Parts: sequence; structure tokens; C-alpha cells
Amino acid sequence: MKPTICAIAAVGPQNAIGIDDRIPWHSKADFYHFKKTTLGHPCIFGRKTYQGLPKRPLPDRLNIICSTQHNNIWGQDGVFLASSIESAIEQSQDLDQIFICGGAAIYEYVLNHDLIDVFYLTKIFSPVLANQIKENPGRYTYFPKDLDTFFSPDKWHPQQIIYPCDILPIEKSPIQATFYKFIRTR
Ligand SMILES: NC(=O)c1ccc[n+]([C@@H]2O[C@H](COP(=O)([O-])OP(=O)(O)OC[C@H]3O[C@@H](n4cnc5c(N)ncnc54)[C@H](OP(=O)(O)O)[C@@H]3O)[C@@H](O)[C@H]2O)c1
Repeated sequence: MKPTICAIAAVGPQNAIGIDDRIPWHSKADFYHFKKTTLGHPCIFGRKTYQGLPKRPLPDRLNIICSTQHNNIWGQDGVFLASSIESAIEQSQDLDQIFICGGAAIYEYVLNHDLIDVFYLTKIFSPVLANQIKENPGRYTYFPKDLDTFFSPDKWHPQQIIYPCDILPIEKSPIQATFYKFIRTR
């Protein structure tokens, strides 16, 4: 049976997803959501995203890193290297769900090649961050698609994911995260 190919991303103001090789915000709620959604499933990363993870490999998940460099610099238990996104997907073929975890180059490829069955999208609201991005837009990495145009209802079935408010951790900074799941209609 073919596994469900999922992607997961958090998108902030102006479509920003990254700064340097890391995420431009700290959302405890989104960390909770990411862990709950991906735990136990293979996770595929672009090399830059993997390099920027504060702790790697991600525990209790097979980590597959896409890189065109053939030296296995990440050779560790539970970490595989793939020279293409298709080969990364093949390496986890026997499992029921696979997660594509970014970054921008990887999202762009999988969306352009229509590889995704389910897209988990967190929208991050932060007025402070919105101002920082306006002041220095060149420092940020952006999600490769306009969300409203790309996730159109004729191609994707949207669902909002609501967590009971006593489950989500309280944010330290003024940041708000809302969670969606888009299922590809075929
Ligand atoms: N907000 C979010 O949800 C989220 C999620 C993930 C990442 N991010 C952020 O996104 C930023 C990184 O994005 P990015 O686009 O710069 O880098 P990236 O997608 O993480 O990694 C790009 C690298 O992946 C490899 N790669 C890309 N396409 C490939 C392919 N088709 N086959 C094999 N290897 C391939 C190449 O590695 P080699 O150069 O080694 O060949 C390429 O340089 C970071 O700031 C990160 O924190 C945000």
C-alpha cells in the first residue's frame, strides 16, 4: 500500500518561514503540534533545515536528509541520506505516513510535482515579527507559494485543527498559532 505523503510547515507574516538556517519565532504551541503530528513517522528534511535543527536527529522518528553532497556527514543511527526527494520517499515506503518537513527548496519541489496528499499548515501571527520582516526582508526565507491561491478549495479540502486550550502550552511571547490540514482532492 502506498503511504500517505504529508508535508508540515509553519508560515509567519509575509509568508516567512525561516531566518538564516532556523525558524524566526519560538512557538511552544507549534512545537507541540509538530511533535504530536510527526512522532513515530519518517521525517524528510532539506540539508539546510536539518543543519539548523537545535537538536538532531529528531528522536523517535526516522530522519531522512536530502542532499546532493555524497559524503554521509550526517551518518548517525536513525539518519538516512537521500540524493533526491523521490529516493527519500522510497526509503520510507513501507510506512503509512511520511512527513516532508521543509525547508523552502523542498516544499517548492514537492508542491510543484504534486507529491503531497495532506498538508499540515500552521499560521503564525506576530505583529512584532511582521515589523522585523518589513525592516529587513532579505534576511528571511519564504514559503514558495501564495497560501490563498495555492490551497484553493477546488484542489484542497481545508480543515482547522482545534486543540483543547488546556492542552496547548502557553506562549511566552505575544505570538499566536492556528493549525490547518489541507487534504488534496484528486
Ligand atoms: N517554518 C517552517 O515550518 C520551516 C520548516 C522547515 C524549514 N524552515 C526554514 O527554511 C529555511 C531553509 O530552507 P532552504 O530552502 O534554504 O533549505 P532546505 O530546503 O532546508 O535545504 C536545501 C538543501 O536541500 C538539498 N536539496 C534541495 N532539493 C533537493 C533535491 N531535489 N534533491 C536532493 N537534495 C535537495 C540541497 O542540499 P545540498 O546543498 O547539500 O545539496 C539544498 O541545498 C531555514 O531557515 C529553516 O529554518 C522553516
